[in-house]
Amino acid sequence: MIELKGITKSFGSLLVLKGIDLTIDKGEIVSIVGPSGAGKTTLLQIMGTLDKPESGEVLFDGVNVEKMKEKELSKFRNRNIGFVFQFHQLLPEFTALENIMMPALINGVSFKKAKERAEEILQILGLEERGAHKPAELSGGEKQRVAVGRALINKPSVILADEPSGSLDTKNKEELHQLFFDLRDKLGHSFVIVTHDETLAKLTDRTIHIIDGKISDCN
Ligand SMILES: Nc1ncnc2c1ncn2[C@@H]1O[C@H](COP(=O)(O)OP(=O)(O)OP(=O)(O)O)[C@@H](O)[C@H]1O
Ligand SMILES: [Mg+2]
Repeated sequence: MIELKGITKSFGSLLVLKGIDLTIDKGEIVSIVGPSGAGKTTLLQIMGTLDKPESGEVLFDGVNVEKMKEKELSKFRNRNIGFVFQFHQLLPEFTALENIMMPALINGVSFKKAKERAEEILQILGLEERGAHKPAELSGGEKQRVAVGRALINKPSVILADEPSGSLDTKNKEELHQLFFDLRDKLGHSFVIVTHDETLAKLTDRTIHIIDGKISDCN
């Protein structure tokens, strides 16, 4: 479904990614692990079309995203890829429900439909009582689940998460991890999760080890 071929990336004279080949299949949950500075976030940003590789190709179902113009690419990204970051990055002025609705509204879905879908998602997330709360009125775990809801609303084929449980305590961490597996089972999303959490990495279908800008080991 997602295919990376020979991806390299430098920042100035620093060669961060040194030729990455990687395929993510439909419905797979893949973890990416490796030491700080190894290039994990850089790789995820390239996979998510938020950054461009220096050389190499990113293909979604065989389509080369490199060939898309900026406007077409942002539309493609909004429809096909969901993002969850370490610090939720919810909009503080908007409620949980509105935050979840946002990508759908940007995608041109009507307000009524977006609201219905966001309400369904709040239920799936077990947050139906929290829809009217703003981020400041939610716990860390709840905020992260709302961020997952926002990533889900356009029914993307893949969700890319960069240390999504990095700022959570053990209980919230475990709940969030369980949510990823439940969503995959219920809705069939693929997940690519950058994590420092060994317990999570062990639960995933496959772990990619990035060391010094290269894939060192797969299982
Ligand atoms: N925009 C940038 N400009 C310059 N250097 C950058 C930029 N982004 C990342 N780097 C450098 O590239 C290297 C890889 O960074 P990256 O963020 O991908 O690492 P990481 O594996 O995600 O690390 P961490 O586990 O700490 O999040 C680092 O040395 C970093 O300083
Ligand atoms: Mg990182």
